Amino acid sequence: MPPWRGVIREFREFLPPTEEESIVTLLEGGTPLIRSVRLRDWINREIELYLKYEGCNPTGSFKDRGMTLAVSQALREGITAVICASTGNTSASASAYAARAGLRAFVLIPEGQIALGKLSQAIMHGAEVLQVQGNFDEALAIVKEVARGYPVALVNSINPYRLEGQQTAAFEICDQLGDAPTYQSLPVGNAGNITAYWKGYRRYREAGRTSGLPILLGFQAEGAAPIVRGHVVEHPETVATAIRIGNPASWQQAVAARDESGGVIDMVSDDQILEAYQLIAGLEGIFCEPASASSVAGVIKLNKAGRFRRGDRIVCTLTGNGLKDLDCALRVSRRPATISPTTEAVLKHLRF
Ligand code: F0G
Repeated sequence: MPPWRGVIREFREFLPPTEEESIVTLLEGGTPLIRSVRLRDWINREIELYLKYEGCNPTGSFKDRGMTLAVSQALREGITAVICASTGNTSASASAYAARAGLRAFVLIPEGQIALGKLSQAIMHGAEVLQVQGNFDEALAIVKEVARGYPVALVNSINPYRLEGQQTAAFEICDQLGDAPTYQSLPVGNAGNITAYWKGYRRYREAGRTSGLPILLGFQAEGAAPIVRGHVVEHPETVATAIRIGNPASWQQAVAARDESGGVIDMVSDDQILEAYQLIAGLEGIFCEPASASSVAGVIKLNKAGRFRRGDRIVCTLTGNGLKDLDCALRVSRRPATISPTTEAVLKHLRF
C-alpha cells in the first residue's frame, strides 16, 4: 500500500480543490477503526461495536481533518494569520497547522477551563494564546467579530472548509467497514462534527460508495446540553471541558442532521462520561479524553433503554487523545503504591 498522504490528497474527489503548492498537511486522517470485544461484551453481546480512534491524528484530535483544509485555504488566499476560540483541541490543531504553514496563530481559550496538554500544544507551536475570563461561547463571539474586521482567517468550525475536511472521518469509516454502520455515535459540543459526519455519509451514499445511511446519535454533557434542553445554557459546566459549550454554532445544522437520519441528540451525566472513559481504557486499551467518552456513555445509556437490535453495527467516535488531559485521568484513578526496592515488597503487592 502506498503511504498515507493526508485527507486532502486521499479524498480529493470529494473535497473542494486545493492546488498542490498550497496544501498544508501533517498527514492527518487514516485513523484506526477498532473492533471492540471486551467493551462490547460488557455493554451487549448482540451488537457490533467499533471505536474510531481520532486521538491518533497528528495533534491528537479530529480537528486536524478540518484544519488542513482551513489553513491551506488561508494560505491560498494570502492571509498571514489565523484565529480561533477553543475549548482546547481546535487551538492545538490551529497552532500546529499555522506553524507548519508559517502563519501567525491567535487563540482564545476560557481561562482555567482547558486541559493542560492542549494549552501546552498551542504554546509549543508558537501561538499567541489569550486566556479569556469567560467561557467558550463568549470567546467565539469575540473572534467572529475580529475576523470580520481584520485580515485574519477564522478557523473555527463555522469556517466551511473545516466541516468539509471533517467529513473524511465518515468516508474512512465506510471504507473500513465496507458500508455505512447502523448507528454513528458522537460527542456534541459546538455541533460542527456531527454536521460534518452527516454531510460525509450523505456524500458517500450519493456517490454509490455505500448502500445506506447511519442513524446519528449525538451526546452532550448534562451541564452543557443546550440542544437537548432547547435553550442556550448561560453557564455550561462539565468535567468534559472539550464540550463545555452553551450555545453551539452549528445548532440548527446538527438538529437537521439528527432529524434527517432519524436519530437522537441526548445527554449523559459527568458520572456516566467518567465511567465510559475508564471502561474504554480498562477494557480496550484505548485512552481517550473525557469528552470523547460521551459517545460510548450515550450508547450505554440507550442500550439500557433497549434501543439496539441483534447485529446492529455501532461506531463510536473517540474524538481526542487521553494524554491531553492527564489531570482528569489521575483524579479518577487509584494512585500507584510506593514500595521499598525489594523483591519481597513487590511480591507482597502482586498477591499471587
Ligand atoms: N470531542 C472533542 C475532544 C472536542 O474537542 C470537541 C470540540 C468535540 C468532541 C465536539 O465537537 O464541537 O464539533 O461538536 N472541541 C472544540 C474545540 C469546541 O474548541 O476544540 P463539535
